[in-house]
Amino acid sequence: MGLTKWAYTLSESLLSEPLPRRWEHSLGVAKRARSLSPILGEDAELLEAAAVLHDIGYSPAIAVTGFHPLDGARFLRDQEGADERVVRLVAHHSCALLEAEERGLRQELEGEFDLERPDLVDALLYCDMTTTPDGTQTTSAERLDEIVQRYGSETIVGRFIQRAAPEIHAASKRVADRMAEVSGNGQPM
Ligand SMILES: [Fe+2]
Repeated sequence: MGLTKWAYTLSESLLSEPLPRRWEHSLGVAKRARSLSPILGEDAELLEAAAVLHDIGYSPAIAVTGFHPLDGARFLRDQEGADERVVRLVAHHSCALLEAEERGLRQELEGEFDLERPDLVDALLYCDMTTTPDGTQTTSAERLDEIVQRYGSETIVGRFIQRAAPEIHAASKRVADRMAEVSGNGQPM
């Protein structure tokens, strides 16, 4: 089975029934990943697979610590023997290290999983942070507002996302700029 087909099948089996909205979000993030293929080249499939799998750690079937990037990456590594680049992207998606700090899990996360190439880390962050919980397209600013409202500004997630905001906006802009360059809109005169 190809990498992306395997990823969709696995993610659907873990999320679609217990967490249908999270599954819709995951499909939306994967769609965003496909839209980045002009700047991803041979890594397009890798990013789409990581995108559809990024939130599987929320699945009650595999949640252990309650910190979904770590639970998802451990499951992929230990139960699925997944491609290590997919595992790393899931482990560190969307500034997970900062949330790990809030949860006292930074050492576990960075001790077990290396960071993937920075442009791929940016690309996955962009896909996640420009996709609503329902899977539709949004901006990183609206996405962050929605997260703070949904969780509350004084919660672990609320605190984390406010600390991560500058990097989230910067990474999203880096990806958007690369896309503009490739499509010819942002080329220097
Ligand atoms: Fe996530």
